[in-house]
This record gives sequence, structure tokens and C-alpha cells, in this order.
Amino acid sequence: MGGLARLEYRGYDSAGLAVVTSDRDRVGMRKKAGKLVNLEKELAGRPLEPATAAIGHTRWATHGAPTDANAHPHLAAHGRLAIIHNGIIENFSALRAELQSEGVEFLSETDTEVAGHLLAREVDRGESLADAMRIITRRLEGAFTLLAVDASEPRTVVGARRNSPLVIGLGEGENFLGSDVVAFIEHTRTALELHQDEVVEITPEGVTITDIAGHTVEREPYHVDWDATAAQKGGFPTFMEKEIHDQPTAVADTLRGRIDEHGRLQLDGGMIHENVLNSIDKIIVVACGTAAYAGLVGRNAIEHWCRIPVEVELAHEFRYRDPVVGVKTLVVAISQSGETMDTIMAVRHAQQQGAPVIAIVNSQGSTIAREADAVLYTRAGPEIAVASTKAFLAQITAMFLLGIYLAELRGNKFPDEIESLLDQLEEIPAKIQRVLDASEPVRALARTMADERTVLFLGRHVGYPVAMEGALKLKELAYIHAEGFPAGELKHGPIALIEEGQPVFIVLPSPRGRESLHSKVISNVQEVRARGARTFVIAEEGDTEAANHAEQVFYVPAAPVLMTPLLSVVPLQLFALELATAKGYDVDQPRNLAKSVTVE
Ligand code: M6R
Repeated sequence: MGGLARLEYRGYDSAGLAVVTSDRDRVGMRKKAGKLVNLEKELAGRPLEPATAAIGHTRWATHGAPTDANAHPHLAAHGRLAIIHNGIIENFSALRAELQSEGVEFLSETDTEVAGHLLAREVDRGESLADAMRIITRRLEGAFTLLAVDASEPRTVVGARRNSPLVIGLGEGENFLGSDVVAFIEHTRTALELHQDEVVEITPEGVTITDIAGHTVEREPYHVDWDATAAQKGGFPTFMEKEIHDQPTAVADTLRGRIDEHGRLQLDGGMIHENVLNSIDKIIVVACGTAAYAGLVGRNAIEHWCRIPVEVELAHEFRYRDPVVGVKTLVVAISQSGETMDTIMAVRHAQQQGAPVIAIVNSQGSTIAREADAVLYTRAGPEIAVASTKAFLAQITAMFLLGIYLAELRGNKFPDEIESLLDQLEEIPAKIQRVLDASEPVRALARTMADERTVLFLGRHVGYPVAMEGALKLKELAYIHAEGFPAGELKHGPIALIEEGQPVFIVLPSPRGRESLHSKVISNVQEVRARGARTFVIAEEGDTEAANHAEQVFYVPAAPVLMTPLLSVVPLQLFALELATAKGYDVDQPRNLAKSVTVE
């Protein structure tokens, strides 16, 4: 149950467990709709016998509502075999019809149950569980991680993966499988990757990996560079609050030891030849949600420092619009989890067009990290809360590192300029800490706003992605309608939304930046205020003008303009956290969401 609790952030609309006990005819199973606590209550009332092998699942519904019946595991072979699944089996209708024509009865609406019955059919024909898994995965289309146990093979768990994550944990006298290393980090920090279309069989004594045809695969384990304490709340009431407070460390760790004595960026894996990077004429960033906003901040920096055009594309739109991508396009995929299916598919599309791909990823050994040509890990540590916070800051930092590296490589900046940029970045963690230390006013404001129905966020230049991120956090956590607009767009339509009392947050550019931009956004503040809006401004310390136009100003330390998002977003994260808490919502597991969106 500990492993399931640590994985609950990936999906929490139902949960279940199947165990192999001394009974060779039936596995024991409990499953319940709702959060894991419901399953815990069920188990307390109806405990399961001690197990020799077990599988457990927390679900984010795709096929079938989140009910007890649709919760995983699903049984087959008259209760002897149990299966769990992440992903979507796209050809499940045809397979279900085939099985029904053979007299198989289905107990759920899920695509998963199809895989269970296919597996049972092969085992009944005399195949081992692992062979059966290899056979059925050849017939399945779509994305899946499947794990199965069979009471007649009491010390074995078999898994398979295609396009969905599965990691192996190597313990002593025990081995583990999980969608993420957090599932078993308490037991072991030695992990093995499972690649596309591979099948794994674990027993307490060993692990066997094969490809789908049954050829044995040898793989070197890797050491997970964080421990179980990093995946705990560390004294904070929620993971989200802890992760917001982890941000100075996340940025500092992402920066640490990156640039060698020749000014070259140290990537964490793979390699793109310098000649290739010198010849690129365009960069396309592919990412979703918060990661895409990090891409937008990075775009401004890379274009400014390197004079290379940068586009930021939502990964799910990328391959469907026939983008112009080729060998001279550097594609940068940003993803906390490294398992976002939309981003994986964008990476594959880019590679098919011949583009080199750099991944900016937080999860070691994840699919995007593995498939990209080179990796720059954000060292934010495990991010458990569904709403991304520290990963965002670490992603922006990694984009800056990439920009600095390209600027140096391509001769856009002199070594002393590079050094000065790095020095400025190194000052950021302490400044984030100052924002955190001074957070009470924004939290107090949030506690007064639990009844708001809509909140608007305005920003310009690098403040625009910050505005969108502030709005996304509020939607995700507090279920309040929120929109982030470029401040310049206001009078082209959104200003019609302003009425008496409408709260508007404005991310004010630094007065030390382009003077005209600061004064233009000040004008925007005045325009909404004149129409009755309540204005709350995030401004740089020392900006004396800001207070004249705002009901309240939240000051952040001064920083180079391009780096300001690393500071200005923090009050907005805290605002959303506190407002959702005031409304009594679960900030770590907001409704309808899952941490990693591993389906398209
Ligand atoms: O794991 P990824 O960074 O690829 O996830 C991308 C988005 O799904 C993610 O940032 C999402 O928008 C978060 N819930 C935002 O808080």
C-alpha cells in the first residue's frame, strides 16, 4: 500500500490490489472507487492474506466511469489471473467482440479487461504467463503498461510496456515494478529501464527482460540520485507547499556543475555534435501545460542571447499541423515526467523528420529522456503534487542554460558575458527564498477570495507566460475560472470582461527593462482599474510607481529582466495554493487531473 500511496498522484479516481496467496486457484482482490483511503477502509474490514506476489493500481479513468467495477485489477481465468493497465488499448472493441463470440463474459466497461481475457486464453492453452504476455502484446494496439499475476505462478509478476512508463526496482530478495521509481524508492534506489515493446518477469530472486519476440535483453541498472525523503512532505501540510519551498534548491541543483572550464554545457546523456548545433537555423520547443509556459520564457532568452528563431508549440498540436522541421531544426522537448504522451509523439515526429532533439526532463530514465538525442535533466527531485511548481522553475533554468551554451558555442556572447549571465542565475535561488519568506500578504489576500468566480492575469514579454501559469494554477487547484492574457491584447477584446470588483493580477515588467514596456503595462493597469477592476500587482522591489495603481503590490527582488519569471511566478503559486486550501480542496490531487498524462 505504501507504493500505491506514493503513486496515487498519477491517478486517483479508484484503486485496487490483487495478491497471490497460498490459494492456487484464485488471487485475492479488493478494489474501490474513489481515493486510496476507500481501498484502505475496505482492506481494514476485509483483510487479504499474506502474499507472495502482488499488483496494485490507482486509476485515472479513460474507458468507463470511475466505479468499483471499472477499478483495476480485472480478473480472468475464473479469478486465477489478475491484470492492471495504464494507457489505452485502441483496438479493444474488435478484441472484445472476438472474445465475446467465444463466450467470454465481461464485468467492466474497460479496455483493460480485454487484455486479461486474452492473457487467460493463452495461459489456458499451456503458455507461461510471460509467454502469454509476449503473445498478446503483439495483438494490442495503442499505449499500455500491463502487469499480471497468476495464482498458478505464485512468485511471479509479469509486465509489458508500449508507450506507457514502467520501471523495474532491484531489491534484495525482492524486486519491484512501478510506473515511477517513487513506487519503490523506500526499498531500493537501484533501477532498470524497460524499453518500448519489452516484457519483464520478476520473482523475488531475479528479473528477466525480453523483447516481444522472446529474445533476452541485457540492461545495466542505474542509481536513482534522490532518496525516499525527497518524496515525502518534509513537515509541510501538502506536497505542493513543500515543492514550492523546494524551489530555491531545484534551481540551484539544476545549475550546479553544468558548465565546464571551456564554457561548454554538460549534458546528462546522449550527444548532439557541435557542428549540428552550429548549423541549426531554428529551434522548436514542444511541451504541454506548465512545461510549455517554461518554453515561452526560454524562447525570449534564447532568441535574445543567440539570435536564433524559437517557436513554442503545444506538443499535441505539433505533428498534426505538418510543421516545417528538418535537420537544421533543433527540437527541445520539455517535460517534468518525461512520459507525457503528446510530447513523446512530438519527439518521435521530429526525429522522423531528421531533427535533433534535446530533452529537458525531470524524471531519470523516462521515455523522453531515453528517446531524445541528448538530455538536460532538471534536478528538481520528485514532483508529487499534480500542479507543477518546482519543475517549472527548473525547466526555465534549464532553458537558460541551453541558451547560454548555444550563445557561447555559436559565438553570440563573449566568455565574460557568459560568466556574468551564469553569475546572475546563481543569485536567483536566494532571491526565490526571499519571496517565500515574504509570502504572508499574498496568502492573506487569497484567504479573502474564496468566493471569487473569475480572476484575470495580465503580463507582457516574459510576464505573459507567468500570467498564464498563474491562471493555470488557479484553475487546477481552486476550480476558479481564470485566464492569462498578454496585457497588450486587453483592448482587443478581453477588457470587455472587466466589471466592478473583477480581480486582476498584473505582472509588471521591471522599470529597469525597456522603459516603454513598464509604462505601457502601467497604462493597462489604469485601464482596467478605471472600469472597476481590483488590481493586484507583482512588481520589482523599488518600483515606486506600482503602488499608485494597485490595491495591493507584491514585491519581488530585482533580477535581470529575462530571469524575472523565476521570481514573479512564486506569489501566484502561493495565491492559488492558499485559495484552494481556503476552499477546502485537496491541492495535491485536484479533481479530474493526473500527474502524468500518458494517453493522447
Ligand atoms: O510531465 P509534463 O511536464 O510533460 O506535464 C505537462 C503538463 O501536463 C503539466 O505541466 C500540467 O499542465 C500540470 N498539471 C500543470 O500544473
